[in-house]
Amino acid sequence: MHKKERTLAIIKPDAFETKCVGEIISVIEKAGLDIINMRLLHMNREQASEFYAEHKNKPFFTDLVDYMTSGSVAVIELEAYNAIKLYRDILGVTDPTKAQEGTIRKLFAHSKQRNAAHGSDSKISAERELRFFFG
Ligand code: CMP
Repeated sequence: MHKKERTLAIIKPDAFETKCVGEIISVIEKAGLDIINMRLLHMNREQASEFYAEHKNKPFFTDLVDYMTSGSVAVIELEAYNAIKLYRDILGVTDPTKAQEGTIRKLFAHSKQRNAAHGSDSKISAERELRFFFG
């Protein structure tokens, strides 16, 4: 039997800077995802480093932590059938120059780093990431 699934979206600091937070939420809602929980926060370095621990050894890690702590983010718990894939599909790939037309990153991202939003990439990540922000 099909069961509803939950995933985590983060609207990132560049979207706050360019004032497209509302438009991103609108794309999410129009795709049929339900907003279950939503909170604004300004992450500290410890939180951002822990959240992105899997990228600790990547060359862009320090820049990523700098960026994610540079301003507000919105963390959003989303629900739908197949929510993880559905949201990843409307989010688009990391690099906005390669993202499909109509996706959040094609519409709103600025670069591979300043890419407007985040989405959990698997069921295991979604569970960990939702627990991280919402307990
Ligand atoms: P996100 O989906 O939140 O997951 C990891 C983040 O690291 C990613 O979005 C980008 O913000 C950043 N990132 C991934 N690859 C690169 C890269 N090659 N250069 C800079 N930042 C990157």
